[in-house]
Order: sequence, then structure tokens, then C-alpha cells
Amino acid sequence: MSSYTELTNVNIEEKNILIREDLNVPIHNNQIVNDARIKAAIPTIEYALSKGAKLAIISHFGRPKEGCFDEKYSLKIVADRLSKILNKKVFFEENPLDEKSPEYKNDITLYENTRFLVGEKSGDNDLAKKMAKNCDVFVMDAFGAAHRKHASTYAIAKYAPISCGGLLLINEIFNIEKIIAKPKAPVLAIIGGSKVSTKLNILKKLIQKVDVIIIGGGIANTFLLSEGHNIGKSLSENEMVSDAKEITLLAKKNNVLVPLPVDVICEDSNKITSKNIDHVSENEMIKDIGPKTSRIYEKLIEEAGTIIWNGPVGIFEKTSFENGTKSIANAISKTKALTIAGGGDTISAIEKFVNFKDLDYISTGGGAFLEFLEGRELPGIKIIKKL
Ligand code: 3PG
Repeated sequence: MSSYTELTNVNIEEKNILIREDLNVPIHNNQIVNDARIKAAIPTIEYALSKGAKLAIISHFGRPKEGCFDEKYSLKIVADRLSKILNKKVFFEENPLDEKSPEYKNDITLYENTRFLVGEKSGDNDLAKKMAKNCDVFVMDAFGAAHRKHASTYAIAKYAPISCGGLLLINEIFNIEKIIAKPKAPVLAIIGGSKVSTKLNILKKLIQKVDVIIIGGGIANTFLLSEGHNIGKSLSENEMVSDAKEITLLAKKNNVLVPLPVDVICEDSNKITSKNIDHVSENEMIKDIGPKTSRIYEKLIEEAGTIIWNGPVGIFEKTSFENGTKSIANAISKTKALTIAGGGDTISAIEKFVNFKDLDYISTGGGAFLEFLEGRELPGIKIIKKL
């Protein structure tokens, strides 16, 4: 029996349902770059509609300044896309769910960005109480925001008559748990991204669980620095060098292989060169792994039994620096290993180079995916746990 209260086990016939989704999609030039998170929310929304429920949907969008409206962070663009995908009118309420209590008049109403409200991020109880007003059931479906202890992801459950997990959230828990509970050895993790500081905890935890960790992006630069390599003007965190050293030592102790790039693609005032890691000069910036490194990583991917992927290894958005991430995506798409990926950039890379169906599971979470992998209890999941 499930240890969570699930939407499909709650009577929601003709009820007022408040659904927290994570509709925080990437935007470029006022356009949605990737609508995977909107599409992932559809099963829960359609399920609730099929039961004749009236829906109020809430979500955050970006990181606006609390207490101020900023058009850049308005969910209006998401309401339009949601309506198109559902082929159904989605009413957009310009006020976030606060003073104006939801009336549940329309089949679907999407409320403006929860993060425009003072008290959302601090998990304010008064705000949560206002949000929960008039709802019969609160559905937590925002896996991507489940690691946030906010008014709309956590405190709200204290005031809703019933709180349960939506189809997306339950699916995420089930799939990630399944892969991490019984991984096939050897287990390989690919952790990319720009900062060691944001990935420090996950790196420390993964060392106890995996056999190989491929480190990419700016994180790899800090590790290269910690091993005495010259990385020129590359993105790195000097203050994290000692942490990188500590992780390397810990990895050695646990027999975990942490390969670093042996060659890289560098840029120096628009001049792009592929070179051995020992030949990076003062003015250059490392923007991708080189072809020799790609071959080494491809082989490790080929030999792995389970692969966990979060973060690109280069600036893959630019054609000149896409090859490293592309080779990783291609190798993952061909492997027979169990494959799981998460994070906004990773999803964009998968979409750009291969197919979603080439992987066993793709999580909608970024930070939440990593914290869940670490084994932490996420506040937004705790609220739907059966006592
Ligand atoms: C994400 O993009 O990882 C989620 O939407 C959470 O966003 P946040 O890091 O701004 O809380």
C-alpha cells in the first residue's frame, strides 16, 4: 500500500480542487523555450476535470521580487499555452491567490505567480490559510518545487481539509525511488552545472552510492583548479577549491572514480581551439570538454548499469560548444543501462540532441530531483505522507 495520500484515492467528484503545479518553464525572448513542465501537469488536470471538479491552479514562475508585480514573471503566457495544450479555456486570474479568495466558478482558473506575494517564500501561515479558503482538496503536484517550504507548497496543507499528491508528483516519487532503490552496477552519475556550491551536498552523498562521477561545466573547472591546472579565465569558484579537494579525497577513500577532462574546447576573443588540459592559457575560457574526453566518458557510459544525469558538461546552447553534451546525450540514448535525468538544462539538452523516450525516466525537478536523490525528506512530499 502506498505511504502517500494519492489524488486517485480521494473523492473529488464535483469538488473545489486547488492544485499546486510547477509551471516554471524556461523563457527566451518572451517565448516558452520548453513546455515539458506544462505537459507533465496535464494528467492531473485532466483527471480532476474528468471527475467534474472545479480547478484553481497555482504556481511560481521565476524568482521575482516579493511584493511587486513584474510582467516578466507573469504566468499569463503559461495560461495561454496550457489552454492550447488542453484545448480548453483556461481563465487567467491577474491577482495571485491571496485576498481574493477563489470562487471555483470556472472549470480551470490559473492564478498569477505565487511569488508576487509577500509571505510565499517564508511559508507564512496567514497567506497559506487565505490560499486554502474554499477548497475541498489541495493537490500537491509540483515536484519541481517540493523542496521549497513555501506557503503554497507546504504551509497550505495545514488549512486544506484534505491534502494529496497529484499524478505527476506520485509518478516522480515512484520512478526515482524505483531506480535508486535497486540500481544496476556500476552506477554512474553525471553532475554538471556552473557552481560547486550548489552541488556540494549531492556530490558528497553520491560518493556513498555510485561507482563513477563525471563532473562537468564550471564545477569541473573548480576541480581542475584544485588539482593545480591552469584554467585561464574559465568560470570557477576559488572559494570552493578546498571542498573540491575534500570530495576528491572522499572519492578515493570510497573507490569512486572521478575522471576530469583531459582536453577541452577553449575560447579567447572569439578564437575557438581544442587543446590538451595542460595547454590552457591565461586569457582562455573553457567552454566544453574536448573530443578525447568525450570518448572516455562515452566508454564509461557504455559500461554503466545505471546512469543518473543532471547538468550539461559545456555551453551546449552554442553550436561551437555543444559537442561534449551532445556526445553524452547520444551515448546515454544508446545504452542499455537504467537511465534517469533531471533539471531544466538537462531536459533542454535531451530535447536538442536525442529523444525523451531514449531515457527510462526524466524528472521535472532540478533542485528537487537532486535533493530527493540525496535522500532528503522534501517538505512538499512530507505533507502528503500518511501518518
Ligand atoms: C526549478 O526550476 O528547479 C523549480 O521550479 C524551483 O524553482 P526555484 O529554484 O526558483 O525554487
